[in-house]
Amino acid sequence: MSVAPDREALIAAAREAAGLAYAPYSKFHVGAALLFADGSVVTGANVENASYGLSLCAETVASAKVLSSGGRGGLIAVAVTGGVPGQPGRGATVTPCGRCRQVLNELAQLGGTDPLIWCDGENGGLELRLSELLPHAFGPANLG
Ligand code: THU
Repeated sequence: MSVAPDREALIAAAREAAGLAYAPYSKFHVGAALLFADGSVVTGANVENASYGLSLCAETVASAKVLSSGGRGGLIAVAVTGGVPGQPGRGATVTPCGRCRQVLNELAQLGGTDPLIWCDGENGGLELRLSELLPHAFGPANLG
């Protein structure tokens, strides 16, 4: 079974996840919501660290939750949102960082999908396929 992806619902889930971000250093709260073919949604938020470079992005946290729970594919859509709470004017569209594109690709390639990536933001945000954000990706399929 494969559900019809609901953009507004997935962005709402990402926004709720962003409310749980642990981002005391950057103050930039990011939420990600991953939608699977069975209709399940897994969310994540960024988790920063006093040793700044160890911080984890929201998309990476969500992907790790899935893989460490036994999920191995079926990823059909991802919503990402971010901003500084209380500063709505700075709500620039957030696209997944380079590392997160690679992390999401692992999950996508395992199930042979090319998920939609919905980037929340002012002026309607952006809708892209993961393959547009990360063309010619290296993933599990390359390891034979
Ligand atoms: N961040 C994410 O969670 N996802 C991204 O794709 C971009 C950046 C986080 C990392 C850091 O905690 C904060 O946003 C500022 O860079």
